[in-house]
Amino acid sequence: MTDTLPGAASPNPLDEAAITAAVEDAVAAIAAASSLEELKAVRLAHTGEKSPLSLANREIGSLAKEHKAAAGKLMGSSRGRVNQALAARTQVLEAENDARILVEETVDVTAAPRRRRAGARHPLSTLQDRVSDIFVGMGWEIAEGPEVESEWFNFDALNFKPDHPAREMQDTFFVEPPEAHLVMRTHTSPVQVRSMLERDVPIYVLCPGKVFRTDELDATHTPVFHQFEGLAIDKNLSMADLRGTLEHFARQMFGDEASIRLRPNYFPFTEPSAELDIWHPGAKGGPRWIEWGGCGMVNSNVLRAAGIDPDIYSGFAFGMGIERTLMFRNEVGDMRDMIEGDVRFSEHFGMEI
Ligand code: PHE
Repeated sequence: MTDTLPGAASPNPLDEAAITAAVEDAVAAIAAASSLEELKAVRLAHTGEKSPLSLANREIGSLAKEHKAAAGKLMGSSRGRVNQALAARTQVLEAENDARILVEETVDVTAAPRRRRAGARHPLSTLQDRVSDIFVGMGWEIAEGPEVESEWFNFDALNFKPDHPAREMQDTFFVEPPEAHLVMRTHTSPVQVRSMLERDVPIYVLCPGKVFRTDELDATHTPVFHQFEGLAIDKNLSMADLRGTLEHFARQMFGDEASIRLRPNYFPFTEPSAELDIWHPGAKGGPRWIEWGGCGMVNSNVLRAAGIDPDIYSGFAFGMGIERTLMFRNEVGDMRDMIEGDVRFSEHFGMEI
């Protein structure tokens, strides 16, 4: 017998129906969550501190002793069900997520890449490299000089007297102010003098580079073009060495049937001087002689200006235009094509020339 009225001295046991409903609610919400984010929100709403189940659980502490065990059991199994549902749903959603990423981020390794146009080396550069390679192959070195050159190197040291008409031979871009005596170099020959001043004899150098003359642009002239200059200084060099060197070079460039011919000419910096013609076996319209450049034995005044004793050393030099060489070697009819920068022009020469 007990004299205690039910519910009078101690709070009521937990409302089992309400708790079962909360569990059903939670399980339904968990099943309805269609992403891991939604599931996170559901977890918070149904198991967080303010969720009905947590609040009910907190009430256990204040229940009458005799109700506690049953309430604890009820809450344990209720929360167990919810947690189990959460774990199962998490697993399903994670698997779905992984599968979706695999599909969305698939890389088709067999797909053709989008090609970027690679561009092309300019045939003038390729030809310049080829010329350099031939001379390097003979043990020569490559030398370079400035494009804005002092008048002294471009003319005086090369034996152009101040009032010499030969200065007029080349139409020069003078750089202001006139007192600076600077010009855009009109040829690569100033590198001869620079090389002699900078290097010890014997000297064997090839000097490729840009030169400038006040020519109007047309099919066979451009105010900016390229030359390569050769210079050899040694004991006992003669015109025969010059001839042999140029003939070897001509054959490397134009094939074994090529040959050269020298015709008397005049340059202030060489004596004797010659015009160099090449017998071009593959010329368009049949083999023929083509004017290629200038050459000669280095004038003793030039040797002296560069501090070399002409009684002990002698030398030869030659100079040719790269654009002109490309024109008749590779059948380019118009020099303007070389400077327009249309990659289709360059592409057709390829990597070898
Ligand atoms: N510098 C001369 C020119 O530009 C070419 C040349 C070079 C001639 C070396 C003789 C010796 O025309």
